[in-house]
Amino acid sequence: MFNIEDIRKDFPILSRKVNGKPLVYFDNAATSQTPKQVIDCIVAYYSNYNANIHRGVHRLSQEATDAYEHARKTIQRHFNAKYTHEIIFTSGTTHGINLVAHGFSSFLKPDDEIIVSALEHHSNIVPWQMLCEQTGATLKVIPMNEDGELVMSEYIKLLSSHTKLVFVNHISNALGTINPIAHIIEQAHQVGAAVLIDGAQACPHIRPDVQELDVDFYVASAHKMCGPTGVGILYGKESWLNTLPPYQGGGEMIAEVTFEKTTYADLPHKFEAGTPNICGGIAFGAAIDYLNGIGFKSIEAYENDLLDYATQKLLDIKGLKIYGTSKHKTSVISFNLEGIHPYDVGTILDKLGIAVRTGHHCAQPIMDYYKIPGTVRASFAFYNTKSEIDALVEGIKKAQTMLS
Ligand code: ALA
Repeated sequence: MFNIEDIRKDFPILSRKVNGKPLVYFDNAATSQTPKQVIDCIVAYYSNYNANIHRGVHRLSQEATDAYEHARKTIQRHFNAKYTHEIIFTSGTTHGINLVAHGFSSFLKPDDEIIVSALEHHSNIVPWQMLCEQTGATLKVIPMNEDGELVMSEYIKLLSSHTKLVFVNHISNALGTINPIAHIIEQAHQVGAAVLIDGAQACPHIRPDVQELDVDFYVASAHKMCGPTGVGILYGKESWLNTLPPYQGGGEMIAEVTFEKTTYADLPHKFEAGTPNICGGIAFGAAIDYLNGIGFKSIEAYENDLLDYATQKLLDIKGLKIYGTSKHKTSVISFNLEGIHPYDVGTILDKLGIAVRTGHHCAQPIMDYYKIPGTVRASFAFYNTKSEIDALVEGIKKAQTMLS
């Protein structure tokens, strides 16, 4: 296990104050904080070798290209993809999902079906609705239960020879539920459907192995994993990426252009039109190195301990209800105080220097299921501490007294 005091020293932002109080940052599911190793990497890029990639013969361009492609290799190893060219840099998870949805728009027919889950983020619902409108395909939904788990028996019933694509998040952003994706993938493959897993919320906590999962597509964002915003990856099996058409036309995604006909570049460049977020991609690699330096087993064990501690403490507060009570969940607690709007709780916590997210968390169907407008969500990372959780508990009690 790591030394938490040493870890916290890596994150300059954790020593700042908010409203005169030490910052307690519990909005990690929205975005994680950035260690100085990643900040240093960004500074080094702009100080020493800022240049466009894959284009110049000059030294800076070569250095930037090498660093960018090195990051792709780091990411390939991290996810255990078979080939480096199966890693496509994107602007984030939403971009990756839209890229795949766009690709499938050329194959789907009115009889086809796409399955999503009741636990999805809006970014995992809307692109598929758009795809269905465009192609006439039908969207089916795996229902959830009171604990915030997917009902697997209903999933099995939804699968048929009409199912072309199954789309599920690895971990629910609103509730923290860890979905049984290995089983979901296996069952989908039995009817010949492809599977896309949204790993945005999982990758900060666990290390997925895309070959072992045998998943067709897996998407993630750097900013949830101690990296910068505006960059992420789409992993796709080589055969799928060769089958899907390009998402955007532009420079660097072509082999040859004439006004009569254009041929496309090989993978991964076919999907990377335009100048990418070069520094972001390099910093994503640095963030992955940083997390692996700590070790995902240690991160998971530490965060589970925080989750257990916080769950017990919060349940001791009278009138507090936790949403998302699966045995398989990560360090996210969504809750409400009886008779009090989540926004008001969040505002008082902010006055105390405690950052949480309030609202529907871009997952309105989950809120509709529970018949609530939203929740307060505290999401913990490996750099949080039990004493910060104690501060949260005191803050909630204070909010309850003030607002009751
Ligand atoms: N999807 C992010 C969240 O859950 C923004 O907060």
